[in-house]
Amino acid sequence: MDTHFFITGGTGLVGTNLIPRLLRAYPDSTITLMVRGDGQDAVDFRVRAIADRLAGEEQMPDIHKRLSGIPGDVSLDHCGLSQNQRQEIIRRTTHIIHGAATIRFDHPIEEARAINCGGTRRLLAIARICSERGTLERFVYIGTSSVSGQRGGAIFENELEMGQRFFNTYEQSKMESERIVRDQFDRIPCTIFRPSIIIGDSRTGRTSSFNVIYIPLRLVQKGMLTFVPGKPETTLDLVPIDWVDDAMVHIMRQPGSVSGVYHITAGPERAAPLGEVVRGAVDYFDKHTPLNRKRTIEFISRDEFEKRRAGMRGREEALMGQLDTLLPYVSVDRLFDSRNADALLSGSGIEFPRYGSYAERILGYCVASNWGRAAG
Ligand SMILES: NC(=O)c1ccc[n+]([C@@H]2O[C@H](COP(=O)([O-])OP(=O)(O)OC[C@H]3O[C@@H](n4cnc5c(N)ncnc54)[C@H](OP(=O)(O)O)[C@@H]3O)[C@@H](O)[C@H]2O)c1
Repeated sequence: MDTHFFITGGTGLVGTNLIPRLLRAYPDSTITLMVRGDGQDAVDFRVRAIADRLAGEEQMPDIHKRLSGIPGDVSLDHCGLSQNQRQEIIRRTTHIIHGAATIRFDHPIEEARAINCGGTRRLLAIARICSERGTLERFVYIGTSSVSGQRGGAIFENELEMGQRFFNTYEQSKMESERIVRDQFDRIPCTIFRPSIIIGDSRTGRTSSFNVIYIPLRLVQKGMLTFVPGKPETTLDLVPIDWVDDAMVHIMRQPGSVSGVYHITAGPERAAPLGEVVRGAVDYFDKHTPLNRKRTIEFISRDEFEKRRAGMRGREEALMGQLDTLLPYVSVDRLFDSRNADALLSGSGIEFPRYGSYAERILGYCVASNWGRAAG
């Protein structure tokens, strides 16, 4: 049977970057993306835009023949697919990669569950049928290291429900979603990945997603950030998207990664100190997009941050609200142990680039793309 990937989340940061890597790693493979859109024409338009870009950038002239789309929404019954469409997917698919999720932190829990847990259940239902037919080689689930919630200290790949509390409904719904996948380990050949904070491509700086760390960076550029919660030595587990997707494709190809959970994280040795990230940004923007004053940033405790925030109103308060996405990452000292992933990556030639070695490219892309607003 020819290798065929059925992918959700293929229009997002993680999914789009997986496409060229999968097509290269599996030379005769084809891919169907399940994409949100009002009908086939709208979906074809979105998929063509991805293929057009990758054809040039990744030198993949045959990508238009190998990549197609089907309309679907993971939050709908049967993902909104007709019975005929489902049968066709089941007939062709050898690998399912489920990356679609809401990554918003502020959904009510039932809404977050409807997309993140409901979507996972629906994809697993398709996977189960493929598996019973004997044609499914792998169900890859894109989880997150944030399932550890408010736990501090060392976090291990095999741990999941440890009585932790959560900072937001994203973390909680992704933890529950991972549980749903793990419960199928004895029936479906699953692999779970848990990336940490994904940032742009270490070689180009490119990203399509300007959240989490990008929000304070943008405020630094505008000169609107004068203090941040956290200590300079607080570590941020930043991982560039090219390394994340290279690592995941390499690991999913190993027979030994069935029923495995892998931290795709920087880990204790390689996480970037908050001070280095913030000061590096100040220096970069002072040089490349100067204001009529020097930018200065103070590091303050979480309590002090909340105290200052409580005294703010209107625009200032809204500004501080933008830092909410950063808070979970600077509020606890934790380190992700990635021994399972490290073991499978060892000898692969896939080297983790340190943040300092490519930070200027990340910041340069932010400026050049006007934080994603400029075309391209
Ligand atoms: N970015 C990170 O830092 C990070 C870190 C750890 C883990 N992850 C995980 O990685 C996965 C992908 O995240 P990402 O960073 O690529 O996010 P993203 O850029 O926001 O992409 C999300 C993807 O999910 C799709 N999607 C959302 N709701 C959907 C629905 N109801 N039905 C069908 N598709 C839907 C989006 O489609 P549209 O294009 O139509 O919106 C998009 O393709 C997620 O599972 C996330 O939890 C991300």
